[in-house]
Amino acid sequence: MYPGSFDPPTLGHLDVITRSAQLFDEVIVAVAINSQKRPLFTLQERTEMLEQCCQHLPNVRVLALEGLLVAFAQQIGACAIVRGLRAVSDFEYEFQMATMNRQLAPEIDTCFLMTHQQYAFLSSSMVKEVARLGGDVRAFVPEVVAQRLSQKFHPKGAGVPSPTDES
Ligand code: PNS
Repeated sequence: MYPGSFDPPTLGHLDVITRSAQLFDEVIVAVAINSQKRPLFTLQERTEMLEQCCQHLPNVRVLALEGLLVAFAQQIGACAIVRGLRAVSDFEYEFQMATMNRQLAPEIDTCFLMTHQQYAFLSSSMVKEVARLGGDVRAFVPEVVAQRLSQKFHPKGAGVPSPTDES
């Protein structure tokens, strides 16, 4: 199971999903609520975006998760929790979470995948900031996500250019 808030999903997340799908028979992407964050997209919107992004991966399913992560993992019979690690700065938070989850459910281990170096700097919050200010985020997120960001921040059409734009 690969849990996260995915607000919104980035190419870094997609990289971890794709690599997990090669390592495990089945991957459940669990779209969760992080009580420390106020999301831009609803749980349903985030789930829809990920479903669209993972359509081409036959052993990946996307589910919304409300409640305790390990309880959900036990319910679906997950053998491992996958998390991406970008930099040293991620480590403490991830270590805390993995330790807590292990205390709650010792049978489920957390596996960390080092994010591809191309995405090591990438974060959903930075993508939101760039999109909010009208920057082009298509190098960082799937096209469907770039469109949703554009609709959220610039509903009247200003901001992110469409892929068919000449300039
Ligand atoms: O992408 P994020 O925001 O870093 O993901 C964090 C997430 C959603 C995995 C974490 O907040 C979580 O597990 N939320 C579900 C509720 C839960 O079980 N909390 C205790 C975690 S130790």
